[in-house]
Amino acid sequence: MAAPQTVRWAARHGVARTVLNRHARRGNLDARLMTDLTLRDDPFASYDVIRGRGPISQGPFARTSASHDVCAQVLKSDTFGVQLRPQQLPGVARRVIQLSRGGVLTPVDPPSMLAVDPPTHTRYRRLVSKVFTPRAIEALRPRMQQLANDLLDGLAASGSHGPVDLVERYAALLPVTVISEILGVPTSMQERFLQWGNGAAVTLDIGIGLGEFRRAEADITALQNWMTGHFQRLRDNPGDDLLSKLVRVEDSDGALTEIELAGTAMLLLGAGFETTVNLIGNGAVLLVEHPEQLARLQEQPDLWGNAVEEVLRYDSPVQRTARVAMADTEVADHRIPQGSLVACLLGGANRDPAVFDDPHTFDVARANAREHLAFSAGVHFCLGAALARMEGQIGLQTLFDRFPDLALAGRPHRRGTRVLRGYDAIPVSLADARRPVAA
Ligand code: HEM
Repeated sequence: MAAPQTVRWAARHGVARTVLNRHARRGNLDARLMTDLTLRDDPFASYDVIRGRGPISQGPFARTSASHDVCAQVLKSDTFGVQLRPQQLPGVARRVIQLSRGGVLTPVDPPSMLAVDPPTHTRYRRLVSKVFTPRAIEALRPRMQQLANDLLDGLAASGSHGPVDLVERYAALLPVTVISEILGVPTSMQERFLQWGNGAAVTLDIGIGLGEFRRAEADITALQNWMTGHFQRLRDNPGDDLLSKLVRVEDSDGALTEIELAGTAMLLLGAGFETTVNLIGNGAVLLVEHPEQLARLQEQPDLWGNAVEEVLRYDSPVQRTARVAMADTEVADHRIPQGSLVACLLGGANRDPAVFDDPHTFDVARANAREHLAFSAGVHFCLGAALARMEGQIGLQTLFDRFPDLALAGRPHRRGTRVLRGYDAIPVSLADARRPVAA
């Protein structure tokens, strides 16, 4: 049985919060990155310092790495997994983990595929991949383009009266509409999905406050209840969408159970828009702030695909993940005992000078931009990477083709999340007053 909410919060976040704050006060840089808002806005110098101390250094709970080589090794290794096994932990930690469990289905708890290891992970991934195929994704291209055009039409109509918020009116709406259509969930639910998704996004962070935790659990529970009812509707009246297929898909072990279905559907929904909104928002701000790079894209539109890779590298929508050692092991000459965590700073690995020349320069023509780890690596490599890439390219290229003079009309505002990096508001004016808005 799940512990009461305050006990779950204390075990999951409260203890971590106290430890993080103590380490941050003592100057531990990784703890400060998770607690200090000013560092969160610009974490890249801190990643350099962490990397400068060596390929792996000791953080408050975990060993930490901002090295591309180490992060790739850990993420690809089958000695590392995502499930903390309580039996491998000392008594107090084991009790804390047990108390933190139960409650609601977050993206970082089983049966979310992000939170389970093979062979369970292999089964979930195989079942979802049966319906989430590259062909099905590619078939979405014309519809995605249409949606981008329609949203920009709406933006043009309101933008003629003054500044608009690019996140609210475009960067958030395109991904949530696309994933809702793929999953076959009604577009009338979008506003509520966005609210629930924000709740889920917060739970990716360690050490959140009790109020945030309560709101997040309420948002996620509401989504879970809605999903469960929705599965029943799909069984009675299936459509051609991904969820209608997922409720029926089977392997030799049978179909997904109700809780596995809910975990999978909520992960796909949340992952489908909570990250891509950041890719489009981060990309839009970068291109407005680097007009010479935008000019290059306008001259050479075939560079757009690469520009999306460079946005993913330079300002990664997911900044960190972690793995646990399932046996005593060694990485970069560091002994890693069984049960210990290694935090992989993806945003730091993507600025590692050992892989990327001049890593702090935003260069849409960078030859090896695609070597980034923004979609992670190994068995948990992002299942939606092809969809995200297509959405990033269509989203950004259509925006700047339509509004080549897009300009900031105020300071963009960063979201409060630490694992996810993006903006929650980007005030823009759409066109130079001297130029008519493109038709
Ligand atoms: C720019 C957009 C996106 C970024 C940066 C991103 C990033 C990531 C990362 C870093 C992981 C792995 C985390 C880890 O290793 O611990 C992941 C996993 C995942 N992503 Fe994405 N993602 C994006 C878009 C999407 C989209 C559009 C979907 C679509 C439905 C999606 C679905 C998933 C799923 C299902 C997983 C879990 C895969 C597994 O555990 O096997 N993602 N994503």
